[in-house]
Order: sequence, then C-alpha cells, then structure tokens
Amino acid sequence: MEVIIKPDAESAATLAARLIADTLRTKPDLVLGLATGRTMERLYALLAKLHEGEGLDFAGATTFNLDEYIGLSPEDPNSYRSYMNGHLFDRVNIARENTHLPNGAAADPDAECAAYEDRIRACGGIDLQLLGIGRTGHIGFNEPLSAIGSRTRCKALTPETIAQNAPLFDRPEDMPRRAMTMGVGTILDAKRCLMLVTGAEKAAIIAKAVEGPITSMISASALQWHPRCTVIVDEAAAAELTQTAYYRWIFENEPEWEAYR
Ligand code: F6R
Repeated sequence: MEVIIKPDAESAATLAARLIADTLRTKPDLVLGLATGRTMERLYALLAKLHEGEGLDFAGATTFNLDEYIGLSPEDPNSYRSYMNGHLFDRVNIARENTHLPNGAAADPDAECAAYEDRIRACGGIDLQLLGIGRTGHIGFNEPLSAIGSRTRCKALTPETIAQNAPLFDRPEDMPRRAMTMGVGTILDAKRCLMLVTGAEKAAIIAKAVEGPITSMISASALQWHPRCTVIVDEAAAAELTQTAYYRWIFENEPEWEAYR
C-alpha cells in the first residue's frame, strides 16, 4: 500500500483524475472499476473536464461499478446507475453498453450478483478499481464482517451506512436497507486499486484501515493484502495517520511519482 497526502480535497481528486487519465491513455481498452458517493463527484467532474478539454478518450473503456441498491430500478433517480449517468457517463464518450452496474430491480438478486461476477471475468478482470471508504470502513458495500474472500452478493447495510447515505434521498426513509456489492475478494482481484479519501470525518477510519490490523470488521483493511494499492488522502483525512513523514518522503523522492509532484 502507498499513501499520498495532498493539501486538500481538490488536489486529492485532481491527482486521482490524473492517475486514471494516464492509465486510460496507456491502455485505451481499460476495464475500470468505479465507485459512487460524495467523494467521487469532484473526481468525475475532473474526468469529464479532461474529456472535454484534452480529448480524454473513453470510447474503448469498459466500466464496472462496485454496487447498487436492491429494489431501485436503473431509472430511479436515487439509483447508482442514475448517479453514474449524471456524474460521468453522460459527460464522456463511453459506450453505454460498456458500462456495468448490478441491476437493483433484478427479479433474482442472487443470480444477478453471480452474473455480475461472470461479466467481470468475461471482460478479463478489472485493471484499475476506484474506491472510497465508508464510515464503517466499508469498500463497496462490504460492511463489517464481510469475508475477505467474498464475491459479488447481497449485503444488509448497517445503521451507520444508512445514516451516512439516507440524507441523499429526497425522502430519507426510502433508502433501501440492502445492496448488491462486489465482494472484498472481487475487489482484491483488481490489478490495481486506487482509493480516494477526503475530509476530517474519514480520519479515524482510514487510519485504522491503513495502519491497523487486517480485519473483516474494517473491510478496507483488506487492501493491505493487495500488491498495488494507492491511497490518496487530503490533510484532513490524514490527521490520524502516524507514519506521514514516511509517506511524504516516498511521494517526494520515488521516481515513479516525479510526474505527479
Ligand atoms: C459506493 C461505495 C462506497 C463509498 C463510501 C464513501 O459505490 O463504494 O463504499 O465509496 O460509502 O461514500 P462518500 O464518498 O459519500 O463518503
């Protein structure tokens, strides 16, 4: 795992956007894993800007989102499909048929989850998986006690996650209590993981995930197992990390990061 500390949320999102853009330029048929949530909104706006201003080309890319609420149709304004269309897919030149999310309205959610795994496999696996972290330490909707080897499946959301996301619904009581999510094992199979974490309210949980023991109580801690995981935090989110001098030294001195400093 490597941790990069940027001064604020804007510069953290800018670095994440640059890393994604450079990966896409190197591999135009990139299979990109995507996340939703407040943290990603600015990042997607920056990717849309790179498309508009610099011709960043999504024509060959395929995307797989981490999760979707069970019970919401793709057309529902609160679905993650609607979120993705609004924040990214409608704003870049990606072919809609190459964008994948589990269908929250599927008649058989378990079969939908199994089919989703098959679709990821059929595309050759995920090259770069974008991740946020929830207050419970979830990645995707892998709430506490998610098995580290878990695959895409249905998962009940914790009261804390419901409290985190319900305000985004016009009627908070309409927020579904269950979701389909890629498993921790599905995420660990991605060739590279890129986590973006901003804001003081994430400081305690990201410190546990990065510097604490690997535990299924904090799914994000499983990323310590991943051979190529980059975590970008802003100063506010970095507040409870203990090894920041080392993380900063690496970013300032390792040749790999030269172009991004
Ligand atoms: C959603 C997802 C979640 C979010 C996390 C943080 O697709 O993967 O794990 O990344 O809940 O959400 P925000 O950014 O709203 O704090």
